[in-house]
Amino acid sequence: MRKNIVAGNWKMNKTLQEGIALAKEIKASLSGKTPKCEVIVGTPFIHLASVCEELKDSVIAVAAENCADKPSGAYTGEVSAAMVASTGAKYCIIGHSERRTYYGETYEILRLKVRLALENGLRPIFCIGETKDERQAGRQNDVVQAQLEGSVFDLAADEFGKIVLAYEPVWAIGTGLTATSDQAQEMHAFIRSLITKKYGKELSEDTSILYGGSCNPSNAKELFAKPDVDGGLIGGASLKAGDFVAIIDSF
Ligand code: 13P
Repeated sequence: MRKNIVAGNWKMNKTLQEGIALAKEIKASLSGKTPKCEVIVGTPFIHLASVCEELKDSVIAVAAENCADKPSGAYTGEVSAAMVASTGAKYCIIGHSERRTYYGETYEILRLKVRLALENGLRPIFCIGETKDERQAGRQNDVVQAQLEGSVFDLAADEFGKIVLAYEPVWAIGTGLTATSDQAQEMHAFIRSLITKKYGKELSEDTSILYGGSCNPSNAKELFAKPDVDGGLIGGASLKAGDFVAIIDSF
């Protein structure tokens, strides 16, 4: 049966010292509790090793926010999936709309990143979602389907089974405009139906599909109550331990 997951995505926020302090605060807030979901914090590369060390005896897993599309070599400034895995991180966010939009990450680049993450034992948190214009044109299902087909639907079933999906409508990210729980449910059910067609019912029922986009302590409970919403990928609200833990407590 699929897991419920609450994952933070710190994006390009927090110095190393601030990030370690935040990880410590989240760990302290969860100590003695058994969260009813898996908890992940996604940090910038520079924080990974220290945050993994800080969280090693906790229930909290660590994710990178990206990895290179090449295995190793002369690619100045890049960080490989093998390097990410060597820090102790278990997950890697791939395909975030900010990477697609600002850094030109195409379906093919993301396909390579997903494969390298999997080859190095990392579980990809693969992000998909439509822009405002695409939704207004009624194209959201086609966009999400193309993103899945372009980067992950050619994986073998056992590899696809290691992926966590995150539906993040671009118009809801950092805007305070959350998708309604019905809009999220409708899209998550559509995504699950695509997985069923491609990989069968058992694997689709086992795939965690997270919602992301202005998810906060006041709306998380309603979103997570929907049958196909298996948790959240949290940006802004993951930067404050109190808010992040309140979202975890929504389960
Ligand atoms: P916000 O929660 O800040 O809207 O960001 C969502 C997101 O992009 C998580 O990956």
